[in-house]
Amino acid sequence: MSVIDLVNGKTKVFGIIGNPIEHSFSPILQNTVAKEMGENVVYVPFKVESGEVKTALNGAFKLGICGFNVTVPHKKEVMESLVAIDDLALKIGAVNTLKYTEKGYKGYNTDILGLGKCFDIEGISIKGKTVVILGAGGAANSAAILAAEREAGNIVIVNRTKANAQALKEQTALYYNGNIDVISFNELMSIENPEIVIQTTSVGMGEGVWKSSVENTSFFEKVQAVVDIVYTPWQTKFLSDAKEKGCVAINGFDMLIYQGLASYEIWHDVKIDDERSKVLRNELADYYIAKR
Ligand code: ATR
Repeated sequence: MSVIDLVNGKTKVFGIIGNPIEHSFSPILQNTVAKEMGENVVYVPFKVESGEVKTALNGAFKLGICGFNVTVPHKKEVMESLVAIDDLALKIGAVNTLKYTEKGYKGYNTDILGLGKCFDIEGISIKGKTVVILGAGGAANSAAILAAEREAGNIVIVNRTKANAQALKEQTALYYNGNIDVISFNELMSIENPEIVIQTTSVGMGEGVWKSSVENTSFFEKVQAVVDIVYTPWQTKFLSDAKEKGCVAINGFDMLIYQGLASYEIWHDVKIDDERSKVLRNELADYYIAKR
């Protein structure tokens, strides 16, 4: 008989709540990071139905579960079950990370930290630049607040449904004094100096899909850097077109990795340096590509 000591009496438990949850990459990501960092931790997926987040967290707190990631569709609902919420998460209006405190869970948003890290790692500054956000859904919220926090010169929100873009503009304007324009996709070419572009729509998502929210690829000629939050397919048409025009092109997988690393840093009060982050990112990317 062989002794198994992967989990023992001192193991700290973390997890992710969402619905559906079985396709989440976070358990692989977090268990890999914990192993690399030498922590006695296990991270597991929990499927939680909408309307039951509070009940689930009450139980989790009593069990002493140390922290969670929160994914679709609970990022807003979870906010009513927390004892404290970090300022950035409040501005975005969504929480994706919970940390155990004496009185209950405190909420954070590391989607924005992950997105910010993508720019940091590539050495790209947002300050003073025109930031174009394609889409106006949940992920666009983090992109807009990041642009505001990093003092973008101006923000342009491009969306199919004007009302959604307008709502995002109003939310962002609470924390941003610069100019925010709302335009439609067929006005894209009218943007004078689109330096940074963050693609948050689901256009182009799905294995075998080869579509981009930007149809005229000459749009990329003036662009410095793009991020596509989509990572299936691994290289989207959007990223491929941007790369071809010489832009720095950042894959959505990086945002996924760096939001996960940021959650880990919050839970364990540690800093994972850039070099180690890159090694982890590359290991996880290799694994992800091989297993697809
Ligand atoms: P998430 O929370 O991941 O951002 P979401 O809230 O469903 O997801 O947002 C999806 C975004 O993709 C929205 O901006 C949506 O545009 P609408 O506000 O007009 O719905 C955008 N989107 C989805 N399908 C699209 C398509 N075929 N063309 C253009 N935009 C699309």
